[in-house]
Amino acid sequence: MPFKPAHLANNSAKNSLFLRTLRHEPVTRPPVWFMRQAGRALRSYRQLKEKHSFQELLYTPELACQVTLLPIKDLGVDVAILFSDILVVLEAMGFKVNFGKNGPEVSPALKDLSSSQRANLLAQSIEYLNTAGYPENFKAVFKTISLVKEKSPEVPLLGFCGAPFTVFLYLFEGGSGLFTKALDYLYKNSQQALAWIDCINKTSLKYALGQKDHGVDAFQIFESWAGLLPADTYRLWIMPFIEELSQRLNKEQLPLIFFPRLAAGLESMPISTLSALGVDHQTDLAALSKKLPAKTVLQGNIDPHLPLYLPSDILEKYMQNYLKFFKIHPHWIVNLGHGVHPDTPEANLKLIVDQVKALSLPAHSSSS
Ligand code: CP3
Repeated sequence: MPFKPAHLANNSAKNSLFLRTLRHEPVTRPPVWFMRQAGRALRSYRQLKEKHSFQELLYTPELACQVTLLPIKDLGVDVAILFSDILVVLEAMGFKVNFGKNGPEVSPALKDLSSSQRANLLAQSIEYLNTAGYPENFKAVFKTISLVKEKSPEVPLLGFCGAPFTVFLYLFEGGSGLFTKALDYLYKNSQQALAWIDCINKTSLKYALGQKDHGVDAFQIFESWAGLLPADTYRLWIMPFIEELSQRLNKEQLPLIFFPRLAAGLESMPISTLSALGVDHQTDLAALSKKLPAKTVLQGNIDPHLPLYLPSDILEKYMQNYLKFFKIHPHWIVNLGHGVHPDTPEANLKLIVDQVKALSLPAHSSSS
């Protein structure tokens, strides 16, 4: 018998709406949570940010645990997503990441290096990957997971990482932007770019398996920039990495949500090893659901601009109509189509949660 930490012996989140939905079990309403729910839209988060930097919140397990659970308390969402960041994997590969006012800065950025410097750094990142045990920054995140599961065992906890293509874009460019240099490198030096993507993927797998061992109940892969590649190129170059991750996590029986934002050809994603597909707000949910196997669990896809801009009475009417989708597709997790905008009124997020919670329809059986 593999060792099971005490806080995982009785996992009371197992029968949560979220995990039941991911297992296709009958539910009377969809679960709801928001990407980037633990962030600047919450007053409680902004208060913590007055005292602590983002890095401090991220790597102090007691604080990261507290932040992870803020949206449960403040918004009443059904799922906690681990408070971390997709760029944590780059730190484990030996890069520095600074989360400043203008977004993250990765150093050194691959774009600023010569090809021999890049080759040396890749060799070093591979060496770190093959070192036994976990990097220190992963250990801090794992401690956060243990604390969350000890404190709130009934709340399903979602772990995550970035997909290797998206993480590569930040690594090459050194931060956010149009990623033109990274794409130029990918098309002109495909072999080298794919070697980096492979190293990111294997480091991410190590990270994901560690998260699983410390108690996350499900896992999401954020491919925020899938839409930068044409569908056939994505399928040829990137999909094998996603399959490597998903097949391994499938073996661990860890439910997996894949969120390929703005991807063309969602209907050709490898649905069989995924528990759910995250859908962005450019996609028509009803039209997509007709193209996919009936039991595909979909997650999404409210436009984040709606809670940001709509007056609450109009948002309420919008939601009443939007939530009718549950009747035609009962395998659904309500979410936004991308992260919460930091200026979103908290009351509008709460309104969405309350609207979802007010739904109660006869449970669809798993054979429906
Ligand atoms: O969803 C959650 O609440 C959990 C935590 C979470 C963060 N980042 C915390 C964070 C998650 C899931 C992420 C994922 C992430 N990080 C993605 C994928 C999702 C997406 O938005 O496309 C990406 C691309 C990143 C990289 C990143 N981290 C950027 C571009 C930025 C700056 C822009 C921004 O949103 O502020 C960050 C910083 C970051 N990550 C913050 C938070 C709460 C803001 C830090 C602050 O408080 O100032």
